[in-house]
Formats: sequence, C-alpha cells, structure tokens
Amino acid sequence: SKTSEEQLYRPNYHFTPQKGWMNDPNGLFYLNGTYHLFFQYTPFQSVPDFGKMHWGHAISKDLIKWEELAPAIAYDEKGAIFSGSAVVDKDNTSGLGDGKNVPVVAIFTYHDMKKEKAGEIDTQSQAIAYSLDNGKTWTKYSNNPVLKNPGIKDFRDPKVFWDAKRKQWVMGLAVQDRQHFYASKNLKDWTFLSEFGKDFGGHGGVWECPDLFPIKVEGTNEEKWVLIVNINPGGPNGGSAAQYFVGDFDGKTFKMDDVFTKQLEKEKVVWLDWGRDNYASVSFDNVPDNKRVIIGWMSNWDYSPDVPTEKWRGSSTIPREVVLKRSKDGYILKNIPVSQLKNYEGKTIRKEISLVSDKKLISKGEIDLSKAIIDVDLKKMTKGVYIFTLKNSLGEQVIFGIDNNRQELFIDRTKSGKTDFKDNFANRVSKAPLSKSYQNATFKIVLDKTSIEIFFNNGEKVMTEIFFPNENFSELSLSTDTKGSTLNINAHQINIK
Ligand code: FRU
Repeated sequence: SKTSEEQLYRPNYHFTPQKGWMNDPNGLFYLNGTYHLFFQYTPFQSVPDFGKMHWGHAISKDLIKWEELAPAIAYDEKGAIFSGSAVVDKDNTSGLGDGKNVPVVAIFTYHDMKKEKAGEIDTQSQAIAYSLDNGKTWTKYSNNPVLKNPGIKDFRDPKVFWDAKRKQWVMGLAVQDRQHFYASKNLKDWTFLSEFGKDFGGHGGVWECPDLFPIKVEGTNEEKWVLIVNINPGGPNGGSAAQYFVGDFDGKTFKMDDVFTKQLEKEKVVWLDWGRDNYASVSFDNVPDNKRVIIGWMSNWDYSPDVPTEKWRGSSTIPREVVLKRSKDGYILKNIPVSQLKNYEGKTIRKEISLVSDKKLISKGEIDLSKAIIDVDLKKMTKGVYIFTLKNSLGEQVIFGIDNNRQELFIDRTKSGKTDFKDNFANRVSKAPLSKSYQNATFKIVLDKTSIEIFFNNGEKVMTEIFFPNENFSELSLSTDTKGSTLNINAHQINIK
C-alpha cells in the first residue's frame, strides 16, 4: 500500500521527487546562497517517457535538505529536454540579461522523438534556456538549437564551463563513445575544438554526461584537469558507471597526463565509483571556495525502471566533494560526502572493539540505521576477510567489506529483500580491486532506507548501491576469520525532517 511504500522506501535524506520518474542530475549550479538541482524528469508516470522528458527542479541551502519545485523546463515541439548543464553568466556574454539580473543559462539536449520514430539519425541537438530570477523560471531561447546535429545518432549531454584563461565558454559533449569539445563567446555560437577518447578508457557502451573541470592536486599548487565520462553499459560491475581521466586542457584539446597514461595502461579504466548505483555524476557550477561538488543518480539503466517503488522512481547520491590526490600509483579522484552533512549528525555512539570471529557493532534500537553515518577505523588487520552484515528481523541482509586475501572490496545484495523484480539486480557480488592488502583502513558508511555509500580510506575507493528490504535494516555486525585486529566505531544518526 501507499503508506508502506513511503515508510519502507522513501529515503530519509537522499533527494527523491515526490512523484514520477527521475534519472540524471542536470543543470547543477550555485547562486546567492542556493544550490539548484535539476533532473531528468517524467512527472506523470514513474517510468521514463523519453519523448516527454522535462527538467525537474529542487533547491537547497546546504546540499542536504532539498525542496522540490515545479518542473523548470518542459518538452515542446522541438523535442524532449535531455540532460545538460547550467552556468551563471556573470558578464552577460550571452546578451540574455536584462541589465538588472545575472542571467543563468541552461544548455540541454533536444531529443526529437518524431525523428527517432521515423528512423532518422539526427535526433539530438543542443539548445539553451535562460533565467533572470536566479533560476526560478526559465525561458527558452528563440533561436534554438544553438548546435545542430551533424548527422550523428548519439550527440548529447552538453556540460559547459567558463574557461577563464582563454575567456571562452567550453562545452563538453558526449558523441557516441567519444568526447567532443566546442567553444563559444556567447553561449549561442559554437565551434568545434577537438575530440578525445578513441584509444582510451572504457568503450563497452555509449559515452554520456561528461564533465571537464580544473582542480588542484591535493597539497600542491599544481592544477590538473579531470574529465569525468559516464558510460552505459560497460561499468565495472555491469551496466551504467562513471570513469574519469586526468590531464591538461589548453583551451582546445584535452591531453592525458603522462602519469595517468601509464596508470591507464595498467588499470584500463579508472572508475569514479565501483558500485552499481552511481550514474551521470557531474559537478555544480559556481560553488564557493573553489570546491568541486558532484552528485549522481543512484541507479543503473540495467534495472532502474523496474525497482519496486511505484509512486516515484530514482534518488540522488549524497553530494560529494572531489579531491584529486597524487600517489605513487597515479591519480585518485577522492569522493567525500560534503561537509554540510555533519550538521545533521544527531545521536552518536562510540565503541572500541577487539575483533574476534563475530561481533555485533550496532544493535537494534541503538541508532536508526535507515539514516546513519558510520565511521569505522580498522587497525592491525591481517590477511583474511572483514565482513560487515546489515540485517533486519526478517533475516534479509546486505553484506559488504574487505577481503584482504583477494585484495578487494565488495558489496553483496543478493539476499537484501526484494531482488527478483529484474534478473540482473542481484545476479552478482559487486567488487572493487585494491592494489594491496591493508593493515589499517577506514570506512565511512552512509546509510539511508534503500542505499549504502561506502567511502573507503577517505574516499579513495567508493561503492554505492541500492536495495529494497521488506523491513528497514536495524543491526550491523562484523565477522572475520582473522585475529588481533581492533576496530573503532563512531556512528551518528542523521537528524533530518
Ligand atoms: C543518461 C541519459 C543521457 C540522456 C538522458 C535521457 O542516463 O541517457 O545521455 O540525456 O539520460 O533521459
């Protein structure tokens, strides 16, 4: 029934639309104290209608507590409104401003379903809309599209940023399984710059939702450019996932860094998140303090329209700050939940535990595991396995942890409750390889009713997955075949209304 779906599955603090279908985050920007999250949205049903896609809209002061607004941009005779980005046009380069208000310009893909149905190839083009009231209401530009289709089927998901050095706007576009760059002075006239990706990274599917941005290497003043490219299918554990590249951008071409090139020869693909449910991650424009914050759609095209919610489908990941670390093995784009999440930490429990075979870490009623953040610090680890089990009174469970023999992290949702809505939802244990066995390791575990986000060693390796138990999980234990390790646990309940 309705109540039980709300009680069981409506996340406590991850964003979901009240009703309807949601996929990719779109048009992310910050302006005057407010973060804007737009998203691929079909308001009138909880499965996607690709001919009638809108941009849904939600706002937040702190990236954690969201307020949903009316859909911002609706499909029209030129097509459905597919994924894209938004930029704050401070200098009114577009000329769309009115002299009083800073124009915010959204750049999106028109997808023409009539053409698709007629078997035509040139279905996707890029268009713009603008807002003169800080992102509240939007007007489509009269001369759309601003970038026509050149006769290529997959030609979408424009992500635009201001390239301050060259004083130009740059658009990254996903084109089949490649990345294209375009430049513009006014967001209306675009010229082709370059292509990237033919010989690098994953090509098991089409490239989608790219994002290129500059970022300082942690602890240095060196600047590098990171290119995130989502790919579907072809993810490390099946279906949709995000890969990234590290290099330099000279205003025209993206060139991979030599260290990263070597790293890629070994790793083949460098993944942003190894779980199955973090797709279409892209970053916000104009975030204060030069922070780079990303958010993803917490699902996977392998099964997203089939997950067992009816009123709404789709939720967002916790927003994450990314930090580029350079280690002896190469570059790592670390993901860390945004610091604002700490403001919601309520009831706290701390324990120090000497590990033997099987230990209960959190018992039923201690803190509510359907809204919790758990920091686990493992010390004096040896070869062997460290297996966390999240369970409910029905015996349903999500199992995750680290295997120090095989050198991998894993999440196993095969017994997590409702799993049979699609045969590829619980058909495997998701794994993330590690480069060594660990003696010390930390896990930040972010839990909501239907999701787990694991940030291993300060976000150096991340796994995000969803699940649908028949009762919320209420206990956490850890079992091991090792001896002599210790564990510190610092768990917080999230207080949010
Ligand atoms: C990614 C994606 C985008 C597209 C949108 C359509 O999940 O396929 O490439 O713009 O979703 O909803």
